[in-house]
Amino acid sequence: MRILAVETSCDDTAVALLDGCSAIAERIYSQEIHSEHGGVVPELASRSHMEILPGLVREVLLAGELEGFDKIDVFAATAGPGLTGSLLVGLSWAKAAALASRKCFLGINHLAAHLFVHYGGDRSVVFPAAALLVSGGHTSLFRMNSWTDIMLLGSTRDDAAGEALDKTAKLTGLGYPGGAALDLAAEDGDPDKIFLPSPMSDPSLPEFSFSGLKTAAKLLWEQGADLGDLAASFRKTVVNILVSKLMYQSDVLGVKSVLAAGGVTANSLLRKVLRERCSSKGLNLFLPDRSHATDNALMVGRAAAAILDNNPDASSPLSCNAFARWSGSNLSPLASS
Ligand code: KG4
Ligand code: ZN
Repeated sequence: MRILAVETSCDDTAVALLDGCSAIAERIYSQEIHSEHGGVVPELASRSHMEILPGLVREVLLAGELEGFDKIDVFAATAGPGLTGSLLVGLSWAKAAALASRKCFLGINHLAAHLFVHYGGDRSVVFPAAALLVSGGHTSLFRMNSWTDIMLLGSTRDDAAGEALDKTAKLTGLGYPGGAALDLAAEDGDPDKIFLPSPMSDPSLPEFSFSGLKTAAKLLWEQGADLGDLAASFRKTVVNILVSKLMYQSDVLGVKSVLAAGGVTANSLLRKVLRERCSSKGLNLFLPDRSHATDNALMVGRAAAAILDNNPDASSPLSCNAFARWSGSNLSPLASS
């Protein structure tokens, strides 16, 4: 089964060609135009997807030695959550391609897709599993009873972890998006030289709050804190909160597997601490490689493969719309709107 997957939920234009869950070819274009504005400008993002997407599709088809769409069985695209204008570009493209070639179209939930990057990999997830989704737009914990039964335990009440990292990086002159730059700056600092508060840090509470931490960092920066020390303390505080809550849930749920996904899982300290903690508890850790932590189309393709493995007749209607936010208690890879 050949799947052509498209991801345009924010400022990365990504296309992947898959055979089942295996990537045949992948292309990603990260829009740099937003850095000069200090944040994603939605209209510029949509316009850039419009320009870039057809070229990436062509490259992926060429890399897969395909001349057209005849050998594609499924077209999948992210339907939401994300920036509506950006989503509409990829979604409309995939619908049009599916309609023109009389193939299956699937609208995919972006949050589920991040978790489904682990679907069909070399190792199988043993359920139940605890999952952390941590990105620029979301920070949530899930209990996964199976790939088709994913229960939300709790989310952030204000900023997502990636958003707090990005805002602090921007404030300290590290540019936008600055999560990776702050990660690098933290390597030169001493995390114990600066004290930062840990809001809502009770491990048993499956919810998060990062906006107070961000404000505390701002005050210290304005008082002349050292960049490396502040970055190191900020990174350590965020990582401790994320890991302690994920580990608490893995204990109480009695899980064998722990999944982590989303852009912030590219963070070096988070990766190190998760590996150490899971290995000391004998838990199977599923961590995406760095290039598949941030937005990509392989995860969209794998979510589509999972939907069809569960129900070979599944499809989304051509009326499937883009949606900006997801709210619900059960997360499914098939977009419901
Ligand atoms: O998953 P993603 O690409 O987009 C959303 O769905 O939001 O995540 C992007 C987020 C940004 O906040 C970015 O700063 C963060 O992932 N990020 C990192 C690192 N690399 C990317 N955060 C911490 N450390 C990194 N190395
Ligand atoms: Zn994402």
